[in-house]
Amino acid sequence: MLFKRIEESLRNALEEVHPELKGSELLVRKCPVVKFGDYQCNSIMAVTKRRGGDARRVASDVAERMSKDKSLCESIEAVGPGFINFRIRIDALESCLNQNRSSSQCFVEREPEPRTIVVDFSSPNVAKPMHVGHIRSTNLGNCIARILRFIGHRVVTDNHIGDWGTQFGKLIAGWKTDLNEAALDRDALGEMERLYRKMNQVCESDRDALDRARSELLKLQKGDEANREIWQRMIDLSRLQFDELYSRLDVRFDETLGESFYNDRLNSLVQEIEAEGLAERSQGALLVFFPDDAELKNHPAIIQKSDGAANYATTDLATLEYRSKRWQPSEIIYVTDGRQQLHFKQLFRIYRRWKPNDKVRLNHTWFGSIMGKDGKPFKTRSGDVIKLADLLDEAEQRARKIVEEKNAALEEEQKKAITKIVGIGAIKYADLLPNRQSDYVFDWDSMLSLKGNTAPYLQYAYTRTRGIFRKFDGDIEVLRQENEIRLAEPEEVGLAKHLVNFPLVLQLVIEEYRPNYLCAYLYELAGLLARFYENCPILKAEAPVRASRLLLVEQAGTMIREGLGLLGIQVTDVM
Ligand code: ARG
Repeated sequence: MLFKRIEESLRNALEEVHPELKGSELLVRKCPVVKFGDYQCNSIMAVTKRRGGDARRVASDVAERMSKDKSLCESIEAVGPGFINFRIRIDALESCLNQNRSSSQCFVEREPEPRTIVVDFSSPNVAKPMHVGHIRSTNLGNCIARILRFIGHRVVTDNHIGDWGTQFGKLIAGWKTDLNEAALDRDALGEMERLYRKMNQVCESDRDALDRARSELLKLQKGDEANREIWQRMIDLSRLQFDELYSRLDVRFDETLGESFYNDRLNSLVQEIEAEGLAERSQGALLVFFPDDAELKNHPAIIQKSDGAANYATTDLATLEYRSKRWQPSEIIYVTDGRQQLHFKQLFRIYRRWKPNDKVRLNHTWFGSIMGKDGKPFKTRSGDVIKLADLLDEAEQRARKIVEEKNAALEEEQKKAITKIVGIGAIKYADLLPNRQSDYVFDWDSMLSLKGNTAPYLQYAYTRTRGIFRKFDGDIEVLRQENEIRLAEPEEVGLAKHLVNFPLVLQLVIEEYRPNYLCAYLYELAGLLARFYENCPILKAEAPVRASRLLLVEQAGTMIREGLGLLGIQVTDVM
């Protein structure tokens, strides 16, 4: 990885010329202004601020020391208040490309010290259809898990489904009196949702119904066989429907340990926390206070309600303890809506007090909402939440139009397959494209457009690379073996420089768990590729140039495919 090699030599140089400063803190990033260089180190100021020294001086000493070795960089320049800019040598770039050619590892060297990381994402609630809100957690979590794995970490994905809670009282009561078996067969989640809504409404005015729901809940909690059976059936039916959606979305989990999995631990956990003096009784409930935390001062966490029941926080404490014991992860990532920020702050604080020796990193990777074009939360015309299944259906219908427009002559089977890839890809990409913490407006037309920063645009860019190889009359293996990439034209150099930066971008993504950096990277890649096509003939070029350009196109295609793959998006050879 080119940037790592520069980083290494930078750190070594600093150790040599200023051993009093910590070289390991220096980072190399892409230079923000191409005119000034390819890479930049801007962390010297931070190091001298912490450890003393004149940044300007240090930068120029380091640059001078590094300039003695000319193998990697054409120029190394100390500038401004302590930056260093690097311009890479073309032959270094060529050899990087030629060494990694046609490898799907995309210049990424696998992590020498892999960590174990648990990713908790998607986590829908049983007996309720997954809705549009769940797509963000599912997409983000899936993408983060894929990237961490690609880099070489050990990842455990765990779908913490909501399969326990007070809603089951009403659900079971409704199930017993009102269930429509035929509807359940057709659309289990829809029927369960209907039962819940109806009971909820009835309970508002009917005390008997409310009492019935309460007693059904109590029976369930005490292990009543009939209620357990109904509850289990609701879980099984829900999971069937979840799995169908996950298969459409191409998402898999290593574990699906729902909330109920932790039931047996809850009582003893609450006792333990109380006995250790971490919580206080108040009107029968058990609360944890955070007097020394400005943000949480007025928000104590309830870990046992006054009726003795545990809640979301209690279950999450048990879950955290379990994960830490079972996998000994160095980090756990929770991907949920931003509205759960308070919950996770409380959870992490309580856990730290409870298990001060556990050094696991806890990360709440939260996201904003999906809005309609009217600026209000995205809903159906009648004001209902949009079911994820309906959304995916519509995406496929709309994508069909693109396929008809582009390639009406394809076989029906092929059209269907492409339609899925384009439709689902468009939704996923539009969801990952904005900074995850901002709300975004859901807009079919812009996400399915073939122009602009969309999945179909990138998927199309990929098909163009494949199209060139369909026209190529030689043997691709021979081409690879007998030729090398040589860079001459500025468009070739520009494209090549971008290609080798792939690992750097993945690095940025995982620093903050922001896949939007990868989207931006791929969009730029497609633009550079288009400029390259415009200025550099490929199949019409003379022999060695032709081969080099073909190899460059092949590499670019691989990067688009792998990059989209990390976003959870598939490609197709034609479209
Ligand atoms: N089931 C929850 C919901 O739909 C999300 C759970 C997230 N994970 C967790 N460990 N709390 O809002």
